[in-house]
Amino acid sequence: MEIADGIEEILLDAQQIAHRVAALGTQISADYQGLPLLIVVVLKGAMVFAADLMRQISVPLQVDFVEASSYGEETETSGMVRVGRDVETDVSQFHVLLVEDIVDTGLTIRTIAEHLRARGALSVRICSLLDKPSRRRVEVSLDYLGFEIPDRFVVGYGLDYAQRFRQLPYVGIVRLE
Ligand code: IMP
Repeated sequence: MEIADGIEEILLDAQQIAHRVAALGTQISADYQGLPLLIVVVLKGAMVFAADLMRQISVPLQVDFVEASSYGEETETSGMVRVGRDVETDVSQFHVLLVEDIVDTGLTIRTIAEHLRARGALSVRICSLLDKPSRRRVEVSLDYLGFEIPDRFVVGYGLDYAQRFRQLPYVGIVRLE
């Protein structure tokens, strides 16, 4: 795989990701057997991961989306999380599985999980492709995790830097100018 301009190093290649996503799908399928499952994709970053993950889940499911962002385009989260687009589904009828690209400080996913619990979801669990535990500021329990990664800014497979690089089929470390 040719490395894209602006990428310093490939951290996780497409094959490693696919392998792990398949294992997560198997685990989730077993855990949600017989339960009404709603996958809530955290836009925009988790869309690629979620699209692959849901095709590895064998139990019936529905899909909805939320968008939440910390302010600004910096690589550091500002601590202010805004929930933009909300789910349209009546979450009180579902066990919600939140699908996120990366958990860094934890502020984003905690805000969304609390929001869906407040709306009456039967349960809320979190599935994140990546985890940067060294930067955690609030406690979150990651029920399903793809990979733990070091404290580097990564892009690709849905993740961006100033809206770029989402289409890369791998997760790479971005060269920050
Ligand atoms: P948190 O609220 O600090 O946990 O940040 C989570 C959000 O920050 C993610 O959903 C991403 O949008 C963004 N983010 C954190 N680290 C990275 C990274 O290394 N690359 C791309 N986006 C990141």
